[in-house]
Amino acid sequence: MSALLTQDVSAAAQALRAGKLVAFATETVYGLGASALDETAVAGIFEAKGRPKFDPLIVHVADVAMARPYVAEWPDTAALLAERFWPGPLTLVLPKQPVISDLVTSGLPTVGIRIPDHRVARDLIRQAGVPVAAPSANRFGCISPTTAAHVAEQLGDRIDVILDGGPCRVGVESTILLLAGETPTVLRLGGVTVEEIEEAIGPVAVSTGHGTDERSETSPLAPGMLKKHYAPRSRLQLCDDIAAVPDGPRQGLLTLMPPPDASRFDAVEVLSETGDLREAAAGFFAALRRLDARNLSTIWAVRFPEEGLGRALNDRLERAAAED
Ligand code: TXA
Ligand code: MG
Repeated sequence: MSALLTQDVSAAAQALRAGKLVAFATETVYGLGASALDETAVAGIFEAKGRPKFDPLIVHVADVAMARPYVAEWPDTAALLAERFWPGPLTLVLPKQPVISDLVTSGLPTVGIRIPDHRVARDLIRQAGVPVAAPSANRFGCISPTTAAHVAEQLGDRIDVILDGGPCRVGVESTILLLAGETPTVLRLGGVTVEEIEEAIGPVAVSTGHGTDERSETSPLAPGMLKKHYAPRSRLQLCDDIAAVPDGPRQGLLTLMPPPDASRFDAVEVLSETGDLREAAAGFFAALRRLDARNLSTIWAVRFPEEGLGRALNDRLERAAAED
């Protein structure tokens, strides 16, 4: 099978309705979609990605009205956050209705929902007329896709349609916020910053399974937040300053801003001439892919400032560099 690469939204919507697998652009990364109401199609997502069944899927809808039948509660906080950040890179995890199957949520009593800030994605969902379950459209554990070509590379022979919506504007996945307990808890850092969320609803907890040796697939809060994720094939090593990087053969560098002297590196990717974190996030995964294509012995990545989108980018770096 070879996926149909198209810009035809109605053909893609029809494929979704027919139980097919359709990759589509969102503002964050490309998603691999199937009707969230079709268990067989959803099972196909796990198979195509090689994704373990304990890792739940996010359900994408076109507007708030479309989300309501699938959640058992719609607290004021959810309404406020939806008003402020939807459409956008924020996933709200809320108690689910039984119509959303255990396969989608990995048996959890909650479901992650979001409205993507991409017109093509919303048109697709609206025309399909079904909520769309979609993980990032990459093979499990690998670098996330931010163009249709990235999707074709990893999944082109395993899925039915790739709906090309251009390169993704945000470039890192949505922030995941759990709203089912006492304190709103960030389960994954992403495109909406912790600072922005706290400005809207006050203090939140952050529990991304970081800073411990424990793999958080064992955590009931954040299944699928594996220590190792987003990984290139080359070895990735992190540093705070390239002055600390030892000399070595065929080394690459991934850095926010232009380094004073990059002559020691065989390949260099600068994410933003001015140190702009938005620009850096938008180009992050593509730059990592380009470095990975150079057959380097080591890719060195300079940690980002630990604020705003820098926190989400550091999270991706830490997981991409983690040992198996
Ligand atoms: O930006 C994004 O969120 C992209 C685009 C396609 O929307 N999607 C995405 O999906 O990144 P994925 O499958 O790569 O990551 C989804 C993660 C899961 O690994 C899990 O950690 C969390 O979302 N998740 C989903 N449902 C959850 C739930 N009910 N409770 C806790 N975590 C959940
Ligand atoms: Mg993913």
